[in-house]
Amino acid sequence: MTTNILDMETLALDEEEHALVIIDQTKLPNKAEYLRLKTQGEIWTAIRELQVRGAPAIGDAAAIGIYLAALEIDTDDYGEFARQFHEAADYLNSSRPTAVNLSWALNRMEKIVQEAKGKSVPEIRTLLRDEALRIKQEDIDICKKIGEHALTLVKPGMGLLTHCNAGQLATAKYGTATAVMYLGHQKGYNFKIYADETRPLLQGARLTAYELSAAGMDVTLICDNMASTVMKNGWIHAVFVGCDRVAANGDVANKIGTSGVAILAKHYDIPFYVCAPSSTIDLSTPTGADIHIEQRAPEEVTDMWYKERMAPEGINVYNPAFDVTDHELITAIVTENGVFNNFTVFSAETKTFI
Ligand code: MRU
Repeated sequence: MTTNILDMETLALDEEEHALVIIDQTKLPNKAEYLRLKTQGEIWTAIRELQVRGAPAIGDAAAIGIYLAALEIDTDDYGEFARQFHEAADYLNSSRPTAVNLSWALNRMEKIVQEAKGKSVPEIRTLLRDEALRIKQEDIDICKKIGEHALTLVKPGMGLLTHCNAGQLATAKYGTATAVMYLGHQKGYNFKIYADETRPLLQGARLTAYELSAAGMDVTLICDNMASTVMKNGWIHAVFVGCDRVAANGDVANKIGTSGVAILAKHYDIPFYVCAPSSTIDLSTPTGADIHIEQRAPEEVTDMWYKERMAPEGINVYNPAFDVTDHELITAIVTENGVFNNFTVFSAETKTFI
């Protein structure tokens, strides 16, 4: 059955109940369960535990979350309001370290407070609500533009490979890497899509395979160690992935395993495209080596799949959630502003690589 997956809300603000509503991504694809998160602790945990995940969606959730925090700050005094707001923003920002969209969205919300000095607290709350909803709407518009630019890079019938989930579920709509797939699908492009399962948490199997197949696309799920085989078979004409942070030199942090896919793509002479909103480009991080890579719990590797443990007790585990793909391996970065393949200088003014 084809579902209109693009109508499915990844996250939303319930203004009446003062709640952030998210689809619990840890339950997909078996259950579409929506959670109503009201407290800062609940929102922090939902981001940390990947109930809401994917760089742009984390930013959207944090913006709505900090607006909800502002509703709970019980003072009419601007200075005290700003102090407590800053404290709440710092707390939410500590939930995950790698996706820059989290601090980017919170900084945007803090700017609203800083510029509203002299206004009443109720007026500031209204401005914050508007900004949070604007961030979410911009995410939708930007993903659509990314998809339109990426469509210039593909032809009908191509085989496309993606890693992790940079899909509708990782954004407010369309996804970044998947926007080209949704827009191409609407045009009848009949892509043949390969989704890496994405160990250890299986975002590719649980989320990408789910959303693209529900949308009626031709999706084949592969284990991560099969990417080389499908490339060698000649089935992949382009790779599209999302990302969590682009360093100033064009190095890109994305889900663990991405750099391996890029190396394979280079070997087989397949274009490797990274899709991201320009807000994911972080000029304050000079190179990929400076990106903070989140380390996650060993149990994600040792205990996730079987009812019983899958590895010896006490085994050393290395479980980085992301890796860095060197810019030399990237054919182009696709943002809402176009397709860029020269990563020498990023202009903060034009938001483009020049
Ligand atoms: O740990 P996750 O599931 O949040 O990792 C997500 C990714 O790595 C995505 O590819 C990235 O955030 C881009 S989402 C458009």
